[in-house]
Amino acid sequence: MKILLAGASGLLGSAFARAASRRKHDVIGLVGSYPANVPGLTRQIPLDLRDLAKLESLNLELFPDAIVNCAAISIPRECAANPEDSRLVNALVPEKLALLSRHLFARFIHISTDQVFDGKNAPYKVDHEPNPIDEYGNQKSESEERVLELNPEFASIIRVPLLNGNSLTGKRSLHEQLLTAWSDGNQTALFEDEFRQPCSTDNLADVLVEICERSDIKGRLHWAGQDRLSRYEIGTRLLDHFGLPQDFVTRSARGSDPRFANRQGDLSLDLQPLEGKLKTRPQSFAEQLDSLAIPKPLRDWYNSL
Ligand SMILES: NC(=O)c1ccc[n+]([C@@H]2O[C@H](COP(=O)([O-])OP(=O)(O)OC[C@H]3O[C@@H](n4cnc5c(N)ncnc54)[C@H](OP(=O)(O)O)[C@@H]3O)[C@@H](O)[C@H]2O)c1
Repeated sequence: MKILLAGASGLLGSAFARAASRRKHDVIGLVGSYPANVPGLTRQIPLDLRDLAKLESLNLELFPDAIVNCAAISIPRECAANPEDSRLVNALVPEKLALLSRHLFARFIHISTDQVFDGKNAPYKVDHEPNPIDEYGNQKSESEERVLELNPEFASIIRVPLLNGNSLTGKRSLHEQLLTAWSDGNQTALFEDEFRQPCSTDNLADVLVEICERSDIKGRLHWAGQDRLSRYEIGTRLLDHFGLPQDFVTRSARGSDPRFANRQGDLSLDLQPLEGKLKTRPQSFAEQLDSLAIPKPLRDWYNSL
């Protein structure tokens, strides 16, 4: 299958490229500013996705069987700082890809987020009404609406939680950011009252490949790991796993800092009906930990402990 992958250099996109190439798919990856080769791609094309005319001509030239959109400005503070620019990537690019996939009769898989919800009614079922609390959540929620409106027949929207994995830059995922902070000598305060259901990018990538290969899975769907954990538990489990001192993290609560008081308390997801349809199984957090590596630039620090 010829798959056009937007966001191929990202945390999830790079995992998808590896997983789809193991299944012998022809994956053509679009990257933004990432300068090196992304493993697993048969071809890599630099393209600023905000150039919607070029995105269209490229799709018409390549005529993919499936389009997978892992591109996003996925850091909420960046969306808040640049709402117009991030909306282009987070809402208008998916809208364009939905339209193109309809014209091409191609499968379209668009990644959304648990952050379309307000955190007050977990676990969230797929048909729960979104109620985003910030610009990022608003943009992702808008993208869901537009994609399903334009391509109800071939589109799947997968809402996903906090992602674990090894990024190409070694700086993107939660464990990489925590290890970087710890290597700089910073203790990290983590919330005991904020719950997430983390998932590994490798496991999610297997799910996305399976969905590409199926024509009977569409609409809004949820995927996540098996375990609902507080941020504090995630931090201490990471310390245990890497054999690091427990005092690298401290307990905190959302209400203790006014900047964080409005954050979503619990974004856990109900995985039905997708879980019942797939061969790939959701992973426990212990299984996810096994795949996490120490990023290369931090290995000297880690080995010196
Ligand atoms: N990470 C999480 O914990 C998490 C949680 C829930 C949902 N999600 C969702 O999962 C999806 C993947 O997230 P991620 O964490 O893998 O994101 P990421 O690591 O930040 O990667 C974002 C990707 O988008 C590309 N991109 C951004 N703007 C672009 C532009 N103007 N032109 C071309 N490419 C552009 C980046 O390319 P370059 O780097 O090459 O510029 C990169 O490949 C997103 O839809 C996100 O909303 C992520």
